Amino acid sequence: MTYYANKDRYRDMKYNRVGNSGLLLPAISLGLWHNFGGVDPYENGRAMLRKAFDLGITHFDLANNYGPPPGSAEEMFGKIMKTDFAPYRDEMVISTKAGYHMWDGPYGEWGSKKYLIASLDQSLKRMGLDYVDVFYSHRPDPNTPLEETMGALDQIVRQGKALYVGISSYDAVQTAEAVKILNNLGTPLLIHQPSYSMFNRWIEDGLQDVLSENGVGSIAFCPLEQGLLTNKYISGIPSDSRAAKANTYLDKDRVTDQVLNRVSLLNELAVERGQNLAQMALAWVLREGRVTSALIGASKVSQIEENVAALNNLEFTAEELARIEEILKK
Ligand SMILES: NC(=O)c1ccc[n+]([C@@H]2O[C@H](COP(=O)([O-])OP(=O)(O)OC[C@H]3O[C@@H](n4cnc5c(N)ncnc54)[C@H](OP(=O)(O)O)[C@@H]3O)[C@@H](O)[C@H]2O)c1
Repeated sequence: MTYYANKDRYRDMKYNRVGNSGLLLPAISLGLWHNFGGVDPYENGRAMLRKAFDLGITHFDLANNYGPPPGSAEEMFGKIMKTDFAPYRDEMVISTKAGYHMWDGPYGEWGSKKYLIASLDQSLKRMGLDYVDVFYSHRPDPNTPLEETMGALDQIVRQGKALYVGISSYDAVQTAEAVKILNNLGTPLLIHQPSYSMFNRWIEDGLQDVLSENGVGSIAFCPLEQGLLTNKYISGIPSDSRAAKANTYLDKDRVTDQVLNRVSLLNELAVERGQNLAQMALAWVLREGRVTSALIGASKVSQIEENVAALNNLEFTAEELARIEEILKK
């Protein structure tokens, strides 16, 4: 069935400026790491992408290796671009990355210029795009000079294959160095993509300062801690959840009594705020405006609807924030 985007799609979404750049990103972005691969039901992925765009989510985050099998999430997205999203390309910010293992041999992972340039060419073909909006170095490479990796990002922008560049999972020191190199090359670092949630706060220890001092934006991945920071595990592990599935990065051993105790207490507070836990977890990541966008995943259309509704209450009182700190210590 032909897709016509919802006419009201820009009414309720909030758009935040990415650092000192001219680009705005939606406060909630959608990632295609899980549930959009060749092994997943195509129509469910398609319905989630349509719903996201209808709700004002203009940013879709991919990587060369998303699937499974690797590459298939980009292929799936390329198909939707053709059938549904083609008229809306200029209303979208599409990102992809390279850094993790993608193909065999010495040129299929990490941070060499050889790998990054070839990988982006492959990604563009899979997605049927002329360019991506943001291209990321997916992880720091201890064995490649940072100048080479950043030089590859700069070259990609000069070739017109990406408009902006980002880095993911670089620590504060590596990020400060990357900023310097990219500034010298004339291609400023747009954005950093770190993991960040109530259960994972490493970026508060230096990285956030480097980003704000240098006018670099941030997009927080796994803001729901892959589903742990929702109410879904409170009464057991549902059979269709990520923790129940094989070959995911959410081991069911992480669903411990201690985690569930914290989750139950956080959920009580969320309900007092008129939210559910997923919504409060997203509002918390976005608090104080230090994070540009919360990068969610989803397995169902209803989760996207629920998560976007987090924007109805992004404010926290000092007392609520203090209560969260107390709960997180338990
Ligand atoms: N740069 C990197 O190295 C890196 C690494 C990881 C991820 N990422 C990016 O970040 C994106 C998000 O990662 P993520 O999927 O782990 O994020 P997440 O938002 O923390 O977790 C998403 C999962 O939580 C569950 N969920 C979502 N909304 C829910 C709700 N309202 N109620 C109950 N459960 C809900 C779903 O799992 P169920 O299947 O259990 O329903 C969903 O798949 C990825 O797609 C990718 O783009 C980047």
